[in-house]
Amino acid sequence: MSWQVCNPATGEVIVDVPCMGQKETNDAISSAYESFYSWSKLTATKRSKYLRKWYDLLIAHKEDLGQLITLEQGKPLKESLGEVSYGAGFIEFSAEEAKRIYGDIIPATLPDRRLFVLKQPVGVVGAITPWNFPLAMITRKVGPALACGCTVVIKPSELTPLTALAAAELSLQAGIPPGVVNVVMGNAADIGDALLASTQVRKITFTGSTAVGKKLMAGAAGTVKRVSLELGGNAPCIVFDDADLDVAVKGALAAKFRNSGQTCVCANRVLVQEGIYEKFANAFSKAVQNLQVGDGFIEGVAQGPLINEAAVQKVESFIKDAISKGAKVLLGGKRHSLGMTFYEPTVIGDVKSDMLLSREEVFGPVAPLLLFKTEEEAIRLANDTNAGLAAYIFTNSIQRSWRVSEALEYGLVGINEGIISTEVAPFGGVKQSGLGREGSKYGMDEYLEMKYVCLGNMNSN
Ligand code: SIN
Repeated sequence: MSWQVCNPATGEVIVDVPCMGQKETNDAISSAYESFYSWSKLTATKRSKYLRKWYDLLIAHKEDLGQLITLEQGKPLKESLGEVSYGAGFIEFSAEEAKRIYGDIIPATLPDRRLFVLKQPVGVVGAITPWNFPLAMITRKVGPALACGCTVVIKPSELTPLTALAAAELSLQAGIPPGVVNVVMGNAADIGDALLASTQVRKITFTGSTAVGKKLMAGAAGTVKRVSLELGGNAPCIVFDDADLDVAVKGALAAKFRNSGQTCVCANRVLVQEGIYEKFANAFSKAVQNLQVGDGFIEGVAQGPLINEAAVQKVESFIKDAISKGAKVLLGGKRHSLGMTFYEPTVIGDVKSDMLLSREEVFGPVAPLLLFKTEEEAIRLANDTNAGLAAYIFTNSIQRSWRVSEALEYGLVGINEGIISTEVAPFGGVKQSGLGREGSKYGMDEYLEMKYVCLGNMNSN
C-alpha cells in the first residue's frame, strides 16, 4: 500500500510513499531496541560528535531542506529556511548538552555509606510529530533523546513525511549507526497502537492535538510508559493601553500569522485594552492587509495555504459562529481568490469570550480582537481556558510585565515579543497544553531515568 504526499499550494502529488502499519512499526521498534545497548554505551563525547556532524549536515543542506518543507507543508520559503536553522539548533544544543548529563552525590545519613544518583537513558522512544514543523518538532525530540543515549522510532505526520526521511538520511550520513534513528510513516492509528503496546518502547513523546495527546496518555498507561506531550494552545496576546503601538502591532502580527496561524503558540485571542483598542485595530488591520498570500516559493509571500480542506472548514465554522453571535469582520473573512486552501488573512472585531474563536484553537490566519477594561479582567480572560501553552503581553511597564507574567497560567510568556521559541529555553505547557519541556537543559530530563545507588559497608577493609 502507498500514500500520496501532496503540495498543499497546488494539490499536485509530490511522490507516493509506503503506507506502513503495525508490522513495520514492530520491526522499527526491534531495530531501535537492538541498537539501544551499543548506542547507550558510547561515551557522551562520541555521541556528541555524531550529533554535531548531523547538525553540520542539516545546515549544509539548509536550502534543500527548506525547499522540501515548503513543498510538502506550504509555508513561505523564508519561514522554511528559518525552521531549518531552528530545527538544526536542537541538534547542536543536544550535542553540547550530551557532555553535561551529570549525576549527584548525596551526603549520606550513615557514616559507612555513600549515596549517588546516576542518570541513565530511558530506552527506546516513540516520537510522534506534526505537519506544521516537519523538521523542528522531530529534532527537538530526537536531539536530546540521542544525546542521553536513547534510540528512537519517529512517526512523522502522514502529510509531511519527506522532511523526516531527509533528516533521517542525514543522520546516517553523519555516521549515526543504522537502527538508532528509525522512521515509520503511514497509518497513524496502527503505528500509534504498536508503539503504545510495545514493552520495549519506554517513552512516548508527542506534539499535536490535545485530543490525540489524551488518547496517547491513556494508551501509555497499559505499559506504564513515560510521556511528554506538547498539545494545543489558546494563546492570549494582551495589548495594554501603555504599550508601544508599533511594537504591539509587529509582535501581534508575528505571533498570529507565523505559518499562516498554524502553530500551537500562535496568538489565538488578541485582548486589547479599551484606551488603545481603536488605534490598535486600525494599525493592526493595515499591517495584516499587507501580508501577501500565495505559493510559498514566490518571493515576498508571507502567507501560504492552509494544510488541507478540513483546516479551511474549521476556520469558516469559527468565523460563522462569531458573526452569528455579533462579531464583525474588519478584514478578510473568506477564502482567498487563489482557491485551493488559501484563506484571506483575517481580523475580527467585537469578539466575546463565549465564541468558538475565544474558546478553541482556530489554527488559521484569523485574529479575533477582544476588548478589556482592566488588568484584572485581562488576566481573568486570558486564564479562562483549559489550555496553557504560550501567552504574550505588550506593555511599557516593567512592573506590569512582571505582575501579569506571574499571574498567567501558561508555560511560556513573551513580553513585547511575538516569537520567542528557541532551543536554549524550555518549551512546554501547563493545564491541558501538555506535560514536560522541550529544549534547554530541562529538555534532557525527559529522556533520563534517575537511579539511586547506595554503597554500603564503606568502613570495612
Ligand atoms: C508548535 O506549533 O507546536 C511549535 C511552535 C514552536 O516551536 O515555536
